[in-house]
Amino acid sequence: MAKVAIHRKAHFNAAHRLYNSDWSDERNALVFGKCANPHYHGHNYELIVAVKGEINPETGFVMDMKRLKNLIESEIEDKFDHKNLNEEVVPFKSLNPTAENIAVVIWNILREKIETRLELTITLYETSRNYVVYSGE
Ligand code: NI
Repeated sequence: MAKVAIHRKAHFNAAHRLYNSDWSDERNALVFGKCANPHYHGHNYELIVAVKGEINPETGFVMDMKRLKNLIESEIEDKFDHKNLNEEVVPFKSLNPTAENIAVVIWNILREKIETRLELTITLYETSRNYVVYSGE
């Protein structure tokens, strides 16, 4: 049976600060620049969730898109949208909320909710030009 990747786009706005608490303020400013601003700053994150697998011959679906949409809403958008990632989203209390780490956190959350026979890839745009891709490797 043919393998197809289905994609669902989603969106959330969130604030963050990039900061390593083991470092001095000077070193944080040097490495993270404006992103180390102690008063935080925001991004309009664009999320693309890809699920790849064989088409189910009974439904013609790889995965029900409604279920994927609902999963992204309940597990990601509800928890991340209009939040301060450092302060309000648990993994980032001890993990720098870079685009890379946010993509890994999102993958880990969704991986538990999607059948293991399906491959999962997260693409996260932090700006229109900067984006990261994570597939669990
Ligand atoms: Ni930023």
